[in-house]
Amino acid sequence: MIANLGERRTEQVVRGWMANRPIFIDSDSRILDTIAAGKCDVGMTNHYYLGNKLKADPSFPVKLFRANQKDRGVQVNLSGAGVTANAPNRENAVKLLEWLATRGQDPGVAGLPGGNSEYPVNPSAQPPEVLSRFGSFKADLASLPQYGPLQTKAIKLLERVGYK
Ligand SMILES: [Fe+2]
Repeated sequence: MIANLGERRTEQVVRGWMANRPIFIDSDSRILDTIAAGKCDVGMTNHYYLGNKLKADPSFPVKLFRANQKDRGVQVNLSGAGVTANAPNRENAVKLLEWLATRGQDPGVAGLPGGNSEYPVNPSAQPPEVLSRFGSFKADLASLPQYGPLQTKAIKLLERVGYK
């Protein structure tokens, strides 16, 4: 958000969220259960927790909403992996990463994301079936390279406004 809106505007937005006096629930699953129980109108979670709930119970009464679909797209999280410079089994480590990145959704193969309802690392791989319920979406990929450099600013901003 800082990459797109700048720090000042981002702080205004987050202060707006805080003005709604949000309840902090330290579990994406419990956030969804709280919404399902009618004790909360809206919550912020990673999508795959809802995907996993819907796999277990297709009538789970919570709907997904993706923010910013008419402009920059929704923020996405990254899963990353690498091999350390001094890894003793470098060749096998690289093989494992390549396997995870290319075989993730083959039938009967765990790969990445395995049994979780996440989007595959390999864009040509078939996403988990439950994700078809969520439809397509616009992701904010433009800001991804700035996640690292802006992280400290973002954390300080959240601390300033009391966001947890
Ligand atoms: Fe998670």
